[in-house]
Amino acid sequence: MLVTRDPTRPHTRRFSARAARTANSALNAAIGALVGFGVACVPDYEYGERPPRLVDDGPTAGRDAGPPTQNPPPTTGGPTPTWWQDVEPLIRAQCHLCHGAAPLYGAPMPLATWAELHAPGRSDPSKKVHELVAARIARNTGLPPMPPVANGHLTEDEIALIQAWSAAGAPEGTPPSEDPKPDAGVEADAGGGGTPDSGVDPGPDPEAPFEMIPVVAPNAAVRPGATDEYGCFRTVIETDVPLHAVEITPVIDEPEVLHHILLFRDGGRNYPEERTGFLCAADTVLQGDWELLHGWAPGGQTMVLPPEAGVRLEDGDHLVVQVHYNNPGNNTHLDASGMMFKATRRLRPNDAAVLGVGLENFSLPPGQPAVERSGDCELERPMHVFSYSPHMHLLGAGARMEVMRNGGAPQMLADVPTFAFESQVSYPASWDLNAGDILRATCIWDTTPRTGTTRFGEGTTDEMCYLFIAHYPPFGEYSCGN
Ligand code: HEC
Repeated sequence: MLVTRDPTRPHTRRFSARAARTANSALNAAIGALVGFGVACVPDYEYGERPPRLVDDGPTAGRDAGPPTQNPPPTTGGPTPTWWQDVEPLIRAQCHLCHGAAPLYGAPMPLATWAELHAPGRSDPSKKVHELVAARIARNTGLPPMPPVANGHLTEDEIALIQAWSAAGAPEGTPPSEDPKPDAGVEADAGGGGTPDSGVDPGPDPEAPFEMIPVVAPNAAVRPGATDEYGCFRTVIETDVPLHAVEITPVIDEPEVLHHILLFRDGGRNYPEERTGFLCAADTVLQGDWELLHGWAPGGQTMVLPPEAGVRLEDGDHLVVQVHYNNPGNNTHLDASGMMFKATRRLRPNDAAVLGVGLENFSLPPGQPAVERSGDCELERPMHVFSYSPHMHLLGAGARMEVMRNGGAPQMLADVPTFAFESQVSYPASWDLNAGDILRATCIWDTTPRTGTTRFGEGTTDEMCYLFIAHYPPFGEYSCGN
């Protein structure tokens, strides 16, 4: 939906550029500071496995993510690394989701071919793209890390390898021309996805017919140069009977300009129909009676509810989608991204609910790269958890959730080593918890940007600490902890 249409048509909304710029600059300054320091304090993870990232690319995610690639071993004093032998597989695995042949999600340029890495840089044409890459992947640049925290991670060795390659003039090396089928992985993927299963006809779906309920932006106009613009858009549910949503799917209308999407239920039913700019960004973290139902960032996917539970939707419910935009291109995009409920009238046995496990009334000393605080929540009844999402404000840097059972030592359920305010996402889970289990949520903050004590509170410069867990049966409260 690239816009060459009539921009005056009634459903087109425009952000107020001036208001957005003023408001966003404060947020950007804060986020910039946060992210810069956040990178500095990120420990040097050597993942046996990748961090708990979004499980895989959803149906609408990266068009050019390519097959998963084995990372090459680091070169330590060996021959000069080359594009084909060393760098291309890393860039493909870690960057093509956004910097593919057709860049997506606000990425300004492709990183798909050797020639593209030798083109003049976009933010600084006196440098080549590979030089900007080498600079930008370094820790502690003061800019958002590449890849962004929710989307991957380069190890120190991988960073050193790419930097050594760039410093050596970014040589091409020999293309793997003997490979008869360069696209084999892609074909295999497509084929795998289309393979029919055993041939047993599951019969008609007893939950059909489904109602598809979109909660999306009303063709919001995202103009060239838009940076960290936020739009919050409300949908009011109209239904004659209560429904159970069984899936929540991200709607990706204009992937070139999307940064992330959050879907909330506004419990107080009093949020305005539309709001843009800083207030909208802040609202999503300030409202005590809002339930975070699903979060998407590039690579994210549909939330499929477990078969015994659904997200209850009733007549008059207010749903708000918050969409975060960047537009590095030269065209205005009219965006209708958001989330889509797939809902049934055949109510399932359980309502799904969201509980914030965490703590309140804490205070954090300034100048600390990694301050931790934990809150414990004891369960009185068993609970199944199918998704989680950490929630802090601007200083948030990481989070964990552990369970203590029968007085035993804490066992790790979720470890989110990097968190960024502007990239809050939901991660899938499948935890069966017992009555008597104690859930411990730990938040990690980087307070180096602050000179005074930071306290718990609802302002953006205050801090919060919750791990939101989507679960059933309902716990009965919005939050739990000490
Ligand atoms: C989830 C999407 C995403 C992924 C994955 C990603 N980037 Fe980016 N990248 C962006 C966006 C959005 C921007 C523009 C905003 C900014 O500069 O922060 C950007 C900007 C950049 C820039 C700045 C370009 C300039 O002209 O200054 C460089 C360099 C870069 N990315 C390199 C990388 C590399 C290298 C990787 C992989 C290791 C990577 N990115 C992975 C989204 C992504």
